[in-house]
Amino acid sequence: MNTERIVAGFLGTGSCLPDKEVTNFDLEKIVDTSDEWIQTRTGIKSRRIADENTATSDLAYIAALNAMEAAGITAEQLDSIIVATITPDMSFPSTACILQDKLGAVNAHAFDVGAACSGFLYAASLAKQFVECGQAKHVLVIGAETLSKITDFTDRNTCVLFGDGAGAAIIGPVESGGIQATDLGANGTGGKFLTLPGGGSRMPASHETVDNRLHYIKMDGSEVFKFAVRIMAKSSETVIEKAGWTLDDLDYLVPHQANIRIISSAGKKLNLPDDKVHVNLDRFGNTSAASVPIALDEAVRTGKINKGDKVVLVAFGGGLTWGALAVEF
Ligand code: UT7
Repeated sequence: MNTERIVAGFLGTGSCLPDKEVTNFDLEKIVDTSDEWIQTRTGIKSRRIADENTATSDLAYIAALNAMEAAGITAEQLDSIIVATITPDMSFPSTACILQDKLGAVNAHAFDVGAACSGFLYAASLAKQFVECGQAKHVLVIGAETLSKITDFTDRNTCVLFGDGAGAAIIGPVESGGIQATDLGANGTGGKFLTLPGGGSRMPASHETVDNRLHYIKMDGSEVFKFAVRIMAKSSETVIEKAGWTLDDLDYLVPHQANIRIISSAGKKLNLPDDKVHVNLDRFGNTSAASVPIALDEAVRTGKINKGDKVVLVAFGGGLTWGALAVEF
């Protein structure tokens, strides 16, 4: 009997960003804002926006192909597909099932996870459990969003923040390193601070919900900001401790790309210099569930993360939710 414990880790990553770039100067032309305000308050300069014919699964598909190529895995070898998204192609079937069909991943079960910007961390944590208990060998985990489709471009409080994109990873058994610990959490009491109220069973789509712009993101930015500053550092510290690491062991941080002030605050609390914290929100804005896997793919492909590095991935988001992973590459 083989009694060796399976440990799950990242076998490959991929991402996909739409070509169309929308700069702060473009937004100045449609809402009462300025490049100076957006950069100072958020760190964002530009974001990518999908065209009207592109849905979330289209971006997820390209990201998935890139991750599968990096891992050397074919579609038939996938046992599970988990898509984290708040902008599914439609309510059902799940975006994961739509993707399974596009990929021809005939041996994979498939489902979506809804944990807003923390979704990729929730999905990766599930993938770890599937692999380590023998339920699946290769899991395709994706964070993918077309937030531009639920963004109110008349609301300057939200429309300057968000962008579209997809990031993917193959999680499977590794011989060394791997995912050492996870930390997931939620505080539903704060759910009201970040919502999309219309179109669900509480408020089904009607002429009235459309007229009242209830099919767009509504946010109390300063409440989410306070929560984020506290939870990003706390969840990172928790997962570092669970992994049996100290702060000095940490080589790199891949945080959710929501606001440079939130990221800097987390980096400072973890004693990390700026070059050990991944930042791409200046180019891509906040892509919700896609933000961490896009940043991770970029960090891996540009050699910021190398074999043996101890890395924390961390996110917060609607729900309110949070999640962190401690991974040795
Ligand atoms: O993935 C999770 C998603 N959400 C987040 O991560 C959001 C977290 N929160 C934040 O990042 C920040 O709270 C924001 C960037 C959203 C806002 O920054 P802030 O420093 O908290 O600004 P504020 O909400 O306190 O607003 C300050 C002022 C207000 O004007 P008054 O009331 O002081 O006259 C806003 O109306 O800035 C105004 N304002 C803007 N001005 C120009 C808000 N948005 C804009 C804008 N352009 N786009």
